[in-house]
Amino acid sequence: MKRYDQLRKTADEFGQEHLFQYWESLTDDQRLLLLDDIERIDFKTLASLISEKHTDVAAIDESKIEAPPVYPHEPSESQKELYAQAIATGESMLRAGKVGTMVVAGGQGTRLGFDAPKGTFPISPIKNKTLFQLFAENIQNVNRTFGCKMPWYVMTSSATDAPTRTFFEVHNYFGLDRDDVYFFEQGVMPAVDDAGKIILTEPHRVALSPNGHGGSLLALRDKGVLDDAKRRGVEIISYFQVDNPLVSPADPLFIGLHQHAGSQMSSIAVPKADDLEKVGNFVSIDGKIQIIEYSDLPDSLAHARNPDGSRKLNAGSVAIHLINRTYVEDLTGGTGVSLPWHRARKKVEYYDASASTTVQPDAPNATKFEMFIFDAVPLASQSIILEQLREDCFSPVKNAEGVDSPATSRRDMVRRAAKWLEACGVNVPRDANQEPQATIEISPLRALNAKQLCASLDASQKINPNDEVYLD
Ligand code: UD1
Repeated sequence: MKRYDQLRKTADEFGQEHLFQYWESLTDDQRLLLLDDIERIDFKTLASLISEKHTDVAAIDESKIEAPPVYPHEPSESQKELYAQAIATGESMLRAGKVGTMVVAGGQGTRLGFDAPKGTFPISPIKNKTLFQLFAENIQNVNRTFGCKMPWYVMTSSATDAPTRTFFEVHNYFGLDRDDVYFFEQGVMPAVDDAGKIILTEPHRVALSPNGHGGSLLALRDKGVLDDAKRRGVEIISYFQVDNPLVSPADPLFIGLHQHAGSQMSSIAVPKADDLEKVGNFVSIDGKIQIIEYSDLPDSLAHARNPDGSRKLNAGSVAIHLINRTYVEDLTGGTGVSLPWHRARKKVEYYDASASTTVQPDAPNATKFEMFIFDAVPLASQSIILEQLREDCFSPVKNAEGVDSPATSRRDMVRRAAKWLEACGVNVPRDANQEPQATIEISPLRALNAKQLCASLDASQKINPNDEVYLD
């Protein structure tokens, strides 16, 4: 009963004693589940969040917001030498095994209407490879190219952990060495009602949800990832989201620029598709790079123009970062991590005792709390942004239809494959809208960029209209 006593005492102390209100009627198994849930709650942090009336994400002072400095996709004449050196540095860091990679895969495909971890979504245009398979093959290619064994840290949540592990088992880790794939589960935060009380979804279950991808920093520490990375000699963790099949987890130029600049956390940007695109916006405030989520960016800033008519804040975040291991160690050196919390009003199911049932509310009834990884950017002593072309690195799968959907992502995979083939001198038939007329898929095992493709391409390669061409 020691565990029960302790947890009950803590809940009482923080005014959350109602969590135990059904205790007497619970079975032994239900009691264990309830204690497990309550044990995962950081009551202290929650209490400080409840007591503050306002969001603790700093208010935006519009007058201070500038466009940030960005390393361009194509170097200027004076940057050519730097870029060449950076590529060499990046490649040597990869060869020396100093780069590990990490995907945040705690979300489920809810918006996609896909009831499984998003990484298990089939997406490639011909072979229907899943997101996880594409990333795994990409990593295998990196390992082969640089003679390294890049560890892959896969962050899951309660909902995605077991199915993700099983998926990798069933698929034999897609050819990766299982010792180099490290799953770790992120933390949770409870949802609270308007009175600041933690919500129960059933008499024995707490409304817990993932604490945001910013929670990855604490999870990296608490789940032994930082130790593993240190043991392997990993200095830089390359971070990406599970929804983007075009990502390159190991980009020598990006790694080298990050290293040369002495950056602690770096980011990839693409020019925004439109003023209000639903991406994070890179800004500079008092000389510090920061990302403001589209939902927090005042419209006046989103539409602001430079004297020449171009968009003032044009650098959109694709959620690709390089993060130094020692920087994560610094950020998580105390008891917690000093990232701000974001609040969101959400519909959260709750237990209604009078009807003895769980109710799905029609309107938002609760507050959820999340940390965002990109809030670590302005805390870094040094941070850089590299701009890349959207068509090369970003086409996420977020919605079932329309923008950022499986259809647009597949289209963009074909477009990029066509572009690489053309760069190798292969003629790709195109229609009146310049869309490739063939469906082309290039396995990440075959090539991670046009250069690698050209080196392995047969001179007789032909693409005819309506062909399905899979290059493996
Ligand atoms: C996110 C970024 C946005 C960026 C865009 C690029 C936020 C708040 N916004 O938007 O700035 O421009 O991606 O595609 O992140 N995840 C977890 N655990 C969590 C929450 C999320 O692992 O607790 C993972 C998801 O699996 C997903 C990623 O984080 O891989 C993004 O989360 P999501 O909530 O879908 O963010 P977006 O709105 O897509």
